[in-house]
Amino acid sequence: MAKDALTVTDERSGARYELAIERGAIRATDLKRIKPRDDEDGLLSYDPALANTAICKSAIGFVDGDRGILRYRGYPIEELAEKSSYLETAYLIVKGELPDEHHFAMWRHNITTHSMVHENIKKFMDGFRYDAHPMGMLVGTVGALSTFYPDAKHVLDLESRRLQTRRLIGKMPTLAAFAYRRSRGLPYVYPDNDLSYTGNFLSMLFNMTELRYKPDPVLERTVDVLFILHAEHEQNCSTNAVRCVASARTDPYSAVAAGIAALYGPLHGGANEEVIRMLEEIGTVDRIPEYLKGCKTGERRLMGFGHRLYRNYDPRARLIKKLAYEVFEVTGKNPLIDIAIELERQALDDEYFVARKLFPNLDYYSGLIYQALGLPMTMFPVLFAIARTAGWMAHWAELIRDPEQKIIRPRQIYVGEGPRAYTPIEGRPEPIMREDAVSRFI
Ligand code: SDX
Repeated sequence: MAKDALTVTDERSGARYELAIERGAIRATDLKRIKPRDDEDGLLSYDPALANTAICKSAIGFVDGDRGILRYRGYPIEELAEKSSYLETAYLIVKGELPDEHHFAMWRHNITTHSMVHENIKKFMDGFRYDAHPMGMLVGTVGALSTFYPDAKHVLDLESRRLQTRRLIGKMPTLAAFAYRRSRGLPYVYPDNDLSYTGNFLSMLFNMTELRYKPDPVLERTVDVLFILHAEHEQNCSTNAVRCVASARTDPYSAVAAGIAALYGPLHGGANEEVIRMLEEIGTVDRIPEYLKGCKTGERRLMGFGHRLYRNYDPRARLIKKLAYEVFEVTGKNPLIDIAIELERQALDDEYFVARKLFPNLDYYSGLIYQALGLPMTMFPVLFAIARTAGWMAHWAELIRDPEQKIIRPRQIYVGEGPRAYTPIEGRPEPIMREDAVSRFI
């Protein structure tokens, strides 16, 4: 019977090595055995951006990029989007199983009772410039929460982890809404715990003078489904940032602040904001060919397209596209949708994008819905961060419990200068400007 092993020959020494294959991977540390002489360092694996490296074993999210499959704890995203709620999906992601009615009622109570934030947060929020980006405010305020909850440092204590998880999932919508209200110069709206998780978020965003905000049920359901679709996505950049910081046993607020900072990037969660800017720049359908030409020469990216894993349509993009039309029934059609649809049609008919397997990802259509809801572009990645908190907390806990995990400290291939002697400044030659040049050593 075929053996789950790789046999390699080191041509430098003629030695042969057998590397065990486990779950479709070899252990990178096994490569250290491969060296021509005992006094030499063994081989490293070189994988910039970790494009082909598994950094952990995880049981939370599963993506099959070739088939366009996404499951949370084994449940297909399509079923959860149709039948579940964000709070129930968050329970599933964090706890590993769908709750029964009793446990869901407890979970909802425990999250709801943590929706308030310390009053000092308002003073902290007021300190930002009038035009501060809400993602920048969120990075700061979530990081600051670590100073309000020093008990969060007890990361090895299960009850402390459970409490911080409830606090963060409960408080993210409040911090996000406070950032929005601050940016609009509006008074903060306190949580209304009689509303649903998402209804309460809409109330904290949009309540003006009414005694009690009544969310439109279609919009409430839409945002809840968007939260489900954004809740988890295995080892994406921001989850990896959370895991890396958490591996030093930092508190979860600081680790999640790092995740929010990564998500802020235009190549990651910030793409939904960039998609709207792109569609507005294109302006009319007849300017699409010209715009696509610039994408193919590399002078710009087709924002909302492409994915490291999906070599097929992102299943979330398909669901969001359908959701957009349901929202437009209530809000009126976002005129940019016509440009988005035609842009997608032309891109998927163009060899450049087809050859590179570039399809719409979940950021391509989501911004059109957020904009139709009346949210400013800068808030789009903030809603992504609210939803992804469930995934981040689940990965944080999984890392802490994983006996194979320890502080993350990758290796490098040094390509810099060899040893050099210090010289006095007098007579020193003009320095070579290296800080923005691609290293001449690579
Ligand atoms: C998210 O990882 C996750 O799971 C993330 C996420 C999650 O749920 O957490 O799914 C959420 O971040 C979705 C992605 C949102 N970002 C964007 O929409 C920004 C635009 N997309 C790209 O920048 C890009 O596609 C990435 C960042 C998403 C993926 O980049 P990769 O895998 O590193 O691909 P690459 O840069 O190596 O590109 C491969 C080729 C290159 O061309 P060649 O050098 O081979 O000639 O494809 C080209 C790229 O130039 N390419 C694009 C493109 N994306 C890749 N060309 C034009 N437009 C694009 N969008």
